[in-house]
Amino acid sequence: MVDVDSFIDEAKAEIREQVGDKHAIIALSGGVDSSVAAALAYEAIGDQLTPVYVDTGLMRKGETEQIRETFAFMESLRVIEAQERFFDALSGVTDPEEKRKVIGEQFIREFEREARDTDADYLVQGTIYPDRIESEGNIKSHHNVGGLPDVVDFDGLVEPVRDLYKDEVREVARALDLEEVVAERMPFPGPGLAVRVIGEVTPEKVAVARDACHVVEEETEKHEPWQAFAAVVGKATGVKGDNRVHGWIVSVRSVESRDGMTARAQELPWETLQRIQSRITGQNDNVARVVYDVTHKPPATIEYE
Ligand code: XMP
Repeated sequence: MVDVDSFIDEAKAEIREQVGDKHAIIALSGGVDSSVAAALAYEAIGDQLTPVYVDTGLMRKGETEQIRETFAFMESLRVIEAQERFFDALSGVTDPEEKRKVIGEQFIREFEREARDTDADYLVQGTIYPDRIESEGNIKSHHNVGGLPDVVDFDGLVEPVRDLYKDEVREVARALDLEEVVAERMPFPGPGLAVRVIGEVTPEKVAVARDACHVVEEETEKHEPWQAFAAVVGKATGVKGDNRVHGWIVSVRSVESRDGMTARAQELPWETLQRIQSRITGQNDNVARVVYDVTHKPPATIEYE
């Protein structure tokens, strides 16, 4: 990419030419690639684009509000409140692979409905150059959810950032005033908090994991972990007042890594760990115990499922 401004002008002109007076749709994940693709397409064709953000109920604290704010300039943005449908679909599902599959399929169902509803002819995707090398020849699956619909018959794909590397996408994001999505955020798994609760995904467990993740992110920030979060891993006894209670066990994980392929558990100060413990048990009466995960990857993975 030689020059950001001319890249943006050319990308918009190309989108306009490709889509003409037809309709396009994009799944917004909040990640930088889909955000830039959506912003370029919106600037090019305005409300002929429907950006769709699906709130699965498995997102981080404040994530949906952040999306609404960042993309408030897109009048055609649809935020799909799908929490209940995801929890229903996940009810009784305990196998980790099955969970991922259910989430992927539910996402496709949600997106497909919007695509039909808007009569979308084109699918806009935030595919970047490294993605294309990985899956040359195939329509790239959505990295956050594992497979966008080929069930909907689109006239074509629009991939405005297909020739860019990640740092170039960030540069374009800055030029488009998408500062919020450029900020280096910790990696977050596509299936969201579902892989941070062991066993069945219930609204209660997800709420405990969400609040605990938020505490861990705040308290570990100055130690600059590659990734830090909390997971609900089971139940144990505790005491509240004079009573023995059976509450959640929250496991805290903070790791150093370069690419997520291997990782080292971070040696956090005792005071930090105690503050995390105290905030998590303090904000939720149903947490009986907080433990710190000292396992490297390998033998453990970073996430719990
Ligand atoms: P594991 O748990 O396999 O995770 O050690 C390695 C890194 O990948 C992230 N992760 C995912 N990212 N979709 C994603 O986009 C997924 O399904 C997914 N699962 C795990 C994980 O958070 C860690 O950074």
